[in-house]
Amino acid sequence: MGNARQKQRKHQANQAKLQLLTDALNPGEALPCSLAPLKEQLLPCVKRLHKARLPVNYSDDYFQDALSSPWCMTASHQGILVGALICKEMEGGLRVQSLVAEVPRRGIGSKLLKALVQRAQAKGILEFSLHVHVRNQAAIALYDSMGFRTSITKSNYYHRSAATLEAPLDAHFMVKTLAVDEPSGALPAVTEISSADESA
Ligand SMILES: CC(C)(COP(=O)(O)OP(=O)(O)OC[C@H]1O[C@@H](n2cnc3c(N)ncnc32)[C@H](O)[C@@H]1OP(=O)(O)O)[C@@H](O)C(=O)NCCC(=O)NCCS
Repeated sequence: MGNARQKQRKHQANQAKLQLLTDALNPGEALPCSLAPLKEQLLPCVKRLHKARLPVNYSDDYFQDALSSPWCMTASHQGILVGALICKEMEGGLRVQSLVAEVPRRGIGSKLLKALVQRAQAKGILEFSLHVHVRNQAAIALYDSMGFRTSITKSNYYHRSAATLEAPLDAHFMVKTLAVDEPSGALPAVTEISSADESA
């Protein structure tokens, strides 16, 4: 109980610190963050971030399975978790399952997604896909800006989240295909985080 309260206090302190750091940024300036592979140590924070930012319930198995995918990444700023991307290999490409940013519109989501595309490209993976709720304007705008296009719209895809998600429960299935000779740019640094303030 004491431990839970301590974690809650630490989380609140980190949120306040992040608010101050974000307030100090210029309009449109990205929050600098470092990327790392998803590690068990950060799972509680990743879960909390999903819960705070997404109206869809993800099971514990979802996060546990993510640990075995080398494509899952976290973004941190000064030891505070600020973003996460969960992704797995599927049908010869990569399927982005969830992407969350703690602070909106500070370049966290696009940094994670760009890093994924560049890392995948370096391994010869050229196909990317994802589902997104048809009312999720921010995510659709981000995916659109990254070259994803709606291939089909699936009716009632999010039927299991009827209690928490705004109707209609439909999803756009968006895909992005890189050309074989598409320039990839410099490979992003995705480094181990040796210590994380937010670890559980
Ligand atoms: C979707 C989400 C991950 C986007 O991450 P983000 O860090 O806020 O996005 P970025 O700052 O990298 O934005 C990159 C570009 O995407 C577009 N974009 C992002 N959010 C937008 C918004 N609210 N409205 C319009 N365009 C938006 C813009 O083109 C933006 O570039 P700009 O800010 O230079 O104009 C974030 O809003 C989020 O966590 N949402 C809740 C969780 C979620 O819905 N995840 C997706 C489904 S799994």
